[in-house]
Amino acid sequence: MAPEESAEAESLLPSFERRFLAARTLRSFPWQSLEEKLRDSSGPELLLNILQKTVKHPLCVKHPPSVKYARCFLSELIRKHEAVHTEPLDELYEALAEVLMAEEPTQCHRSYLLPSGDSVTLSESTAIISHGTTGLVTWDAALYLAEWAIENPAAFAHRTVLELGSGAGLTGLAICKTCCPSTYVFSDCHSCVLEQLRGNILLNGLSLEPDTTAPERHPGHNAHDAESPRVTVAQLDWDVVTAPELATFRPDVIIAADVLYCPETVVSLVRVLQRLSACLKDQQAPDAYIAFTVRSPETCWLFTSELAVLPAAVHGEALF
Ligand SMILES: C[S@@+](CC[C@H](N)C(=O)[O-])C[C@H]1O[C@@H](n2cnc3c(N)ncnc32)[C@H](O)[C@@H]1O
Repeated sequence: MAPEESAEAESLLPSFERRFLAARTLRSFPWQSLEEKLRDSSGPELLLNILQKTVKHPLCVKHPPSVKYARCFLSELIRKHEAVHTEPLDELYEALAEVLMAEEPTQCHRSYLLPSGDSVTLSESTAIISHGTTGLVTWDAALYLAEWAIENPAAFAHRTVLELGSGAGLTGLAICKTCCPSTYVFSDCHSCVLEQLRGNILLNGLSLEPDTTAPERHPGHNAHDAESPRVTVAQLDWDVVTAPELATFRPDVIIAADVLYCPETVVSLVRVLQRLSACLKDQQAPDAYIAFTVRSPETCWLFTSELAVLPAAVHGEALF
């Protein structure tokens, strides 16, 4: 490969790596740039490098993505190769054969590479909705809020963060690993979501403090390491949590991602923020960062108008 071609090919590799590890939609991959590169004689070499950075990546080997996702990705890679080269590339077919023989489990993994070189790996459901909840998979707003947090670590550093509707835990884990909060409280209302969340926190090497709101302890609670944040998981249902219960968290920052998907959740969430502002009168108002995908203009309008009636005690910022 000529030096300039090699540099261009190298920029494609991290792009494929990041997207594949995070199981981003296949249409978000830079397929057109790949097609252009494959037309030269070094195409097969580039494809083998992509294979090593995706399906054969050590993180993927240890924590595999969904079988269906790997199958669709490899099939697309083979299609791109066959469109320009007549000679089959055995390694691609061998990788596909391995995937075709594998059974699809109910859980799969996604890994997010952090700018620090560290990563966040999540075990998730292979179904978008299972056990009657949407909280067993990661949603785009969680990724958006995580990226925003990584670019704005001062918003979280040395502060107590309360996350509402944490789901699989991507945003909180990214914040814990990159933004130095003093305390991070993950929360959700669904028992299966909470169980998966605790597993994901431990999978990422963080220690769990006992949840003071829960009657029994979850295995895996360790002594606190002063270098890392105090991490707890709380069962917190916006519709039933009381002001005194909320007050025990004493949050400096409240965050939530993709929890405004219908009018009912908008109203429930704003009521929680109201209860919080009422019970935290004696401390500085917490900042609130809420990220969501606008699926309906009415829900978005409802949220912004409800925000307007919120007491000034909560400083809110909606990240659309
Ligand atoms: C679409 S998921 C988003 C999960 C995660 N924040 C993300 O963006 O990937 C919505 C989450 O809100 C939680 N949730 C919905 N209603 C809730 C309520 N009333 N109280 C607490 N959590 C709730 C669900 O259990 C689920 O985990």
